[in-house]
Amino acid sequence: MSKKKKLKKSSISKKAEKKLKKSKETKFPKTPLFLDRNESQTGPVPEVYKFLKKADMEYLSWYSRDFMFGIKSRLSKKIADDFGFDEKQVILSYGSEDLLKQIIHCYVNPGDKILIPREAWWYYKKVASERGGTNVEYPMKKGTMDGIPYYLYDVDTMIQIYNDTKPKIVVIASPNNPTGNRIDSKDLKRFLDATKDTVTMIDEAYWGFGSTENDYVKPYVDEYPNLVICRTFSKFFALAGFRIGYAFAGKNLDVLINFTTRYLGYNRVSEKLGEIALKNINWYLKIGKQYEKDKEMMYKTFLNLKGFVPFKSYANFMLVDIPVEIRPGLKKYLDERNLRIKFLDEEAFRTEARISLGTKEQNKLLMDTIVKFCKEVDWK
Ligand SMILES: Cc1ncc(COP(=O)(O)O)c(C=O)c1O
Repeated sequence: MSKKKKLKKSSISKKAEKKLKKSKETKFPKTPLFLDRNESQTGPVPEVYKFLKKADMEYLSWYSRDFMFGIKSRLSKKIADDFGFDEKQVILSYGSEDLLKQIIHCYVNPGDKILIPREAWWYYKKVASERGGTNVEYPMKKGTMDGIPYYLYDVDTMIQIYNDTKPKIVVIASPNNPTGNRIDSKDLKRFLDATKDTVTMIDEAYWGFGSTENDYVKPYVDEYPNLVICRTFSKFFALAGFRIGYAFAGKNLDVLINFTTRYLGYNRVSEKLGEIALKNINWYLKIGKQYEKDKEMMYKTFLNLKGFVPFKSYANFMLVDIPVEIRPGLKKYLDERNLRIKFLDEEAFRTEARISLGTKEQNKLLMDTIVKFCKEVDWK
């Protein structure tokens, strides 16, 4: 073979080698991938985009005329019909964040107490003070569920604290953020029996992941007239940007029902998107199934890494306790690769991170990167 030919051959194989190496290198996102606020990375059902493309003046420029039919909105009517409620008992809001605010602003006066979970969404701790109220916190306990570490509602302690402090409002979150646990139905009943005379809010923002059960809603709201169950289209239905929340309010909560009524109607685009999402629940169920598979993969991976403790979750996120020795290094490593998870730093969670689930590929990339980091720093 001539020298010239030899040279050419070696330069081609070097190129091929480079290409091969490159194809083996992990491709990280060019801009931050936000797996830190429990948002959807899949987006809503395609029909939502189709509607938005053709939304016309009627939707954008005119108020709703649904009041002519004696209802607040076609969306509250649809939800009420689906569950067997009087439309009046369905409250629509600007996300479920707004429901909590309105419930507290409606019922809490200066000096009143609200009872909230300690290991929970930071926002609960903020709102009471807006009305001069104070928080009383109840703790969760740790146990296991299906062999995986799990947070549990400690109903005996909750009832005891409730009896001792006589709060004006009680909050339960199921599934809870960031722990991912839900309240067992027997425990819930026992607790609701104890708090029957008090406004009790169940925040079900993460309804739909792991379970789409609805059968209990009407019987509970009928049996406990001070109960309000809050839900949202932000999480399971992937519409956080549209801020659509709703609640089922018990019969004693007419003050709240009046307080939350908006006389010029609801957001017309939002109500349409809500309808579209509900109509296409099967599309969302498929995504939910993938989340369940991915969570299994993530529990397994974390349980194989020294010192990592994942918590079983019924939501679109997962809490994981990270060994303190490697936590800052892991955060830096992920940040540099544009993978953003929520490294919690609050009173109840100093060493944990909350991972919002992404697509199958994103979840795999994240877990592979965490495993790779542990290998690189020789963490075993
Ligand atoms: C437990 C919980 N409730 C309610 C909300 C608020 O959801 P939205 O206002 O988007 O309905 C969140 C948001 O992350 C949450 O984690």
